Amino acid sequence: MITNEDQFQLATYKKMPIAAERGEGVWIYTSDGDKYLDLYGGHAVAGTGHCHPHVVNAIRNQAGELLFYSNLVYSSARARAAEKLISIAPQPLAKTFFCNSGTEANENAMRMARMATGREKIITFSGGFHGRTADSISATFLGKYRELGKPNVPGHLEAEFGNIESVRALADDTVAAIMLEPIQSMAGVRMAQPEFYIALRTLCDERGIVLIYDEVQTGVGRTGQWFFAGSDAGGGVVPDVVTLAKSLGSGVPVGACLVTDAIASHIKENDLGTTFGGGMLAMAAVTATLEAIEQDRMLENVRRVEAYLRERLREVEQVKAVHGLGFLLGIEFNENAAVVHKRLLERKIITGTSSDPKVLRLLPPLCLTEEHVDEFVLAADFHG
Ligand SMILES: Cc1ncc(COP(=O)(O)O)c(C=O)c1O
Repeated sequence: MITNEDQFQLATYKKMPIAAERGEGVWIYTSDGDKYLDLYGGHAVAGTGHCHPHVVNAIRNQAGELLFYSNLVYSSARARAAEKLISIAPQPLAKTFFCNSGTEANENAMRMARMATGREKIITFSGGFHGRTADSISATFLGKYRELGKPNVPGHLEAEFGNIESVRALADDTVAAIMLEPIQSMAGVRMAQPEFYIALRTLCDERGIVLIYDEVQTGVGRTGQWFFAGSDAGGGVVPDVVTLAKSLGSGVPVGACLVTDAIASHIKENDLGTTFGGGMLAMAAVTATLEAIEQDRMLENVRRVEAYLRERLREVEQVKAVHGLGFLLGIEFNENAAVVHKRLLERKIITGTSSDPKVLRLLPPLCLTEEHVDEFVLAADFHG
């Protein structure tokens, strides 16, 4: 299997030596009978855990009804997903545009901001990651990514995350949008003070700029709230646009832009489009994902288990700090986190690294419990 995959698939990812065959909750089962505790969720996708029965049933049922029809027709699956998503979004977010991935959501968010303002420039932040298509990669000021997208889309400006003065200096009347990951995940799970988000909101209001939160990672419950938008950690700020993907469909590819009525009023027929966005299978997965999070009280679970994990790590001398919120956590070590990552993998626990070599990233399913945390801390053998 490994030989075949290596022979026929482009080697664009450094893979773990795991052949994932089956999943259940926080567990991944391999073809040779092993099981792994998954604290990475396949790039933060397995929010409801692997194969949540409610999500699986909804997908099975929808697959037998109608797999797909495009936005040229109405659909009860789409109507339900849109209504459910908007019902949990902080006001004044009022409408959704469905697409298929995080990068596509961000491309459309930036396009809407340009349409709404009649301006072209976009401010994003050093350390932010927004995807790999042309506009999103040009907005990504993290490591080598932007270089990979040469020639870049013009009009992208780089500010310093957490430094409002650096934003003010760039935010003139040619700027359409300020876009940020409210918690920068790949940069090593970096979060700013609430005052920073509040100052961004004020600046955008003063200068007629659209504020976009890329919540591709932080959205859909990962922080212990449905969204970072509107949360206390973010000073209660609600942006004009929120982009989502990753865990929104529990593994069925789907993205979304949530927008205010004010933004929506600038978007007309044929301004945006996508063949697969809003397809029935993905929509059934979205509704079931949100219902599963609600039914299993996963937001409360995230907050409780986060507190427990922080408490357990407080005892550990090698842990310098724990960054982030909810189940988007960066454990900062005094030394290279790759050693811990490797040790954990040998002990059958999957974690993530980041572009900060000292930070180990955890993006587990929202159903992770205290017992799983105990297993993780024991296996990490921080003193070993
Ligand atoms: C914050 C953020 N935005 C956007 C993206 C791009 O999402 P996708 O890979 O679905 O295009 C990612 C992917 O890792 C991400 O972490």
